[in-house]
Amino acid sequence: MSRAIYIIGNWKMNQSLNDIQTFFQNFNTEKQNYKCHTWIAPQAIHAQTVKELGKEYNILAGAQNCSNEKSGAFTGETSPYALKDMEINFTLIGHSERRQIFKESDKLLNEKTKKALDAGLTVVFCIGETLEERESNQTAKVLTEQLNNGLLDLTNNQMSKVIIAYEPVWAIGTGKTATPKMAQDTHKVVRDHLAEKGFNAEEISILYGGSVKPSNVEELLSQKDIDGALVGGASLQGQDFTALCNAGNTCQK
Ligand code: PGA
Repeated sequence: MSRAIYIIGNWKMNQSLNDIQTFFQNFNTEKQNYKCHTWIAPQAIHAQTVKELGKEYNILAGAQNCSNEKSGAFTGETSPYALKDMEINFTLIGHSERRQIFKESDKLLNEKTKKALDAGLTVVFCIGETLEERESNQTAKVLTEQLNNGLLDLTNNQMSKVIIAYEPVWAIGTGKTATPKMAQDTHKVVRDHLAEKGFNAEEISILYGGSVKPSNVEELLSQKDIDGALVGGASLQGQDFTALCNAGNTCQK
């Protein structure tokens, strides 16, 4: 068994052009041959800049979101086909901020996932429970529902282009990380459920997200079912991102 390892930066609505240049100046240039996949999802308007500057460091640029439609009268939306045209090869789908702030439903996320896969993108499909749901022992139920609805009707072939990111909502941007054991236990629930659905679960990379930083990344990645990290705050500075990538580089699954 071998699963790909990913360190993915989610820059959200942060970083000016100047910040991006500083990021790459501070990214460690000595270690260019990362074994793990190092990806960054900047704001859509910065994707080309990150793509160009990232080439030297094997960093791929992606999107944080895309439309569920191919083209047409959808003002303000970005087609996954337009992303592919611009050689932007992956997108996040279903980040908790999209679910909560923009009220994106499971049905819409399923449509977006299918359209992005049709366009040839890799999808980083995000799931996670709120604090209230965890405290009322609803975590497994919430996550399996998000997986069932979001990945509805996908084939094993399509799933080979899907990465799952488990991000407990209460750990995002709060400084509260799930303990490595808590994260591992939940990743196991997710992997077992993917297997029950008939997917090649042992081959699907499942990333952890929520206040991952250089000081806790190694212990998280050392867990059997954690195949990388989706990182917000700690991905904004080149030095921190280098440390995260170094940890990913020594990780093998
Ligand atoms: P955080 O964000 O690392 O700042 O907690 C993670 C995310 O939202 O993907």
